[in-house]
Amino acid sequence: MDAPKEIFLKDYKLPDYYFDTVDLSFFLGEEKTTVSAKISVVPRVDGVASPLVLDGVDLKLISVKINGNELKEGEFQVGPRHLILTSPPSGNFILETVTEILPHKNTSLEGLYKSSGNFCTQCEAEGFRKITFYQDRPDIMAKDTCRIEANKLLYPVLLSNGNLIEQGDLEGGNHFAIWEDPFKKPCYLFALVAGQLESRDDTFTTCSGRKVALKIWTPPQDLPKAEHAMYSLKAAMKWDEDVFGREYDLDIFNIVSVPDFLGAMENKSLNIFNSALVLASPETTTDADYAAILGVTGHEYFHNWTGNRVTCRDWFQLSLKEGLTVFRDQEFSSDMGSRTVKRIGDVSRLRTRQFPQDAGPMAHSVRPHSYIKMDNFYTATVYEKGAEVVRMYKTLLGSQGFRKGTDLYFERHDGQAVTCEDFFAAMRDANHADFANFLLWYSQAGTPIVKVTSSYNAEARTFSLKFSQTVPPTPGQPVKEPMFIPVAAGLLDSSGKDMPLSSIYHDGKLESVTCCGQPVYTTVLRVTKGEEEFTFSDVPEKPIPSLLRGYSAPIRLQSDLTDDDLFFLLAHDSDGFNRWEAGQILARKLMLSQVVNFQKSSPLVLDPQFVHGIKCILLDSSLDKEFIAKAITLPGESEIMDLMEVADPDAVHAVRKFIRKQLASQLKHEFLNLVKENRSSEKYVFDHTNMARRALKNTALGKK
Ligand code: BES
Ligand code: ZN
Repeated sequence: MDAPKEIFLKDYKLPDYYFDTVDLSFFLGEEKTTVSAKISVVPRVDGVASPLVLDGVDLKLISVKINGNELKEGEFQVGPRHLILTSPPSGNFILETVTEILPHKNTSLEGLYKSSGNFCTQCEAEGFRKITFYQDRPDIMAKDTCRIEANKLLYPVLLSNGNLIEQGDLEGGNHFAIWEDPFKKPCYLFALVAGQLESRDDTFTTCSGRKVALKIWTPPQDLPKAEHAMYSLKAAMKWDEDVFGREYDLDIFNIVSVPDFLGAMENKSLNIFNSALVLASPETTTDADYAAILGVTGHEYFHNWTGNRVTCRDWFQLSLKEGLTVFRDQEFSSDMGSRTVKRIGDVSRLRTRQFPQDAGPMAHSVRPHSYIKMDNFYTATVYEKGAEVVRMYKTLLGSQGFRKGTDLYFERHDGQAVTCEDFFAAMRDANHADFANFLLWYSQAGTPIVKVTSSYNAEARTFSLKFSQTVPPTPGQPVKEPMFIPVAAGLLDSSGKDMPLSSIYHDGKLESVTCCGQPVYTTVLRVTKGEEEFTFSDVPEKPIPSLLRGYSAPIRLQSDLTDDDLFFLLAHDSDGFNRWEAGQILARKLMLSQVVNFQKSSPLVLDPQFVHGIKCILLDSSLDKEFIAKAITLPGESEIMDLMEVADPDAVHAVRKFIRKQLASQLKHEFLNLVKENRSSEKYVFDHTNMARRALKNTALGKK
């Protein structure tokens, strides 16, 4: 009867009952924990007394009361996954339950469990039902209090969401704390921590002058290692004020470092992180780890607005909070380091993690249509492709338009549980924008393949780009519709400079692309059909097009650019991402051609033009050092194999090794110089200049 079943987005129904306030009380024992919950229940439609179904897994029900009266047999049913109140009173009522749970036996890393002797919780997505009987769905948002009682020696620190309103000692060596969260929230954001922890303390003064206490909790010996996480948290708080106008809303913000924890979790004012995502020291932590801590700390903090204040109506909308919050953490890390380098890293990640998913048997849309177990839907598609979808709004609307959109989203939906359409509508309405069929990005799976061919007409001084797009079939979606693809494009003249763009002929209309009389060097072409042409006018000479600048859409682009065009872009494109991309396309072609040689037992050769291209990048002191490191790094072996009909690891390995060796010997002098110039014996500093210096030195040494 209670076997897991497939749940469909189209079957979403509003709950029959809302929960207004919830008072939880935990008695944490060594053998068992007792959880008492007092919930004020409000029917959605007055006078309708349908059964109230509560989720509950691995719980022992001790008692259940309605309006103070203990329920008798027949008035409720308990099963392995639910507690059903068969005929609750009509109108508002108070529901009280007492349950027992066994945290020390809970090894699922969900619900309430023990890690290194401390109690902690993880409730997203559906872990709260392992703590107490509840309507465990994100559209049930309630104001909570939480009383925790435990032995004071074993568990000196007692934490939950919101503000500490009372604490004290009790007889028999116990103590208690009462926390109150003034913001209503879904139960997946509930958290409790109890144990032997100490805090690293700091403060942050918000833009309106409120002083917020910041505490990072770790076992005492790890406190010094929390310095970087604290720096990251303060940077994130400031950035969200500056860039999104989002101020923190409570007087305290806690992060707890837990050794046994999957990833990191944004519980309201009580984030919980796996220790590896909090603790850092120069002796054992790499630059990449420092950067990951910055990004994750930002990510979980940013959820306070994108996920907590405005949450998801149901778990199908997961990308509403995760895609948006990944986008926000990407932008944060960009602003703290190099935008181009961050973008290169994020796109590489998308290509290696999300593209294969979108092309395989697990392909699903950013907003899935159905799921069996929600935990399996925290995917690269929901996260990374979801972030690309958010980025496309920004590409289409510009920074200011995008900010108008998020402002309207928060204004409309603060305190609500909403859908991806609500986000879309806020973006559209704030800008009076026409987004055509943009919503397909949420429902249609598969990576679009876009082909583009170009032609120059010297007499008419026009330059045309002809696009055609297809979306490959994916499981359950054999036939696809054309997508709305924003293609950021610029044209380079023969000296490598961006041409000013004046107007584009498209769809029977001539559209000016200047901006308030100022020339524009990059424009966003809105490709919406299966086949479509854009013709630039007033183009004085044959240009080299720079397409999909900044990787403006999550697609596979196949252009008719020649190797010479690509070398030209590698040397000159003002768009850093496309400069890197041109080098990567050339390197891929080169590697694939040498793989063929290897397989035929012909000698391997390295195109001198490629060596020259790499040399120019190496010696260009105007470039960011981390960018140089990325641009001289060959595509990985798996990326090349992904492009082959039949993967040949031996050949790919031999070819990659051969090219690296050739580059090392032909550019020995340049590489040695870079190592010399970028060495340092100074103390470790986490900042972009130093990280870029180390990245370049290590790449020159051939460490990657
Ligand atoms: N909300 C998630 C945590 C989560 C993940 C809960 C899976 C339940 C199931 C959190 O915001 C998150 O996404 N964390 C990431 C790190 C982040 C930087 C992408 C994680 O835990 O890996
Ligand atoms: Zn997240």
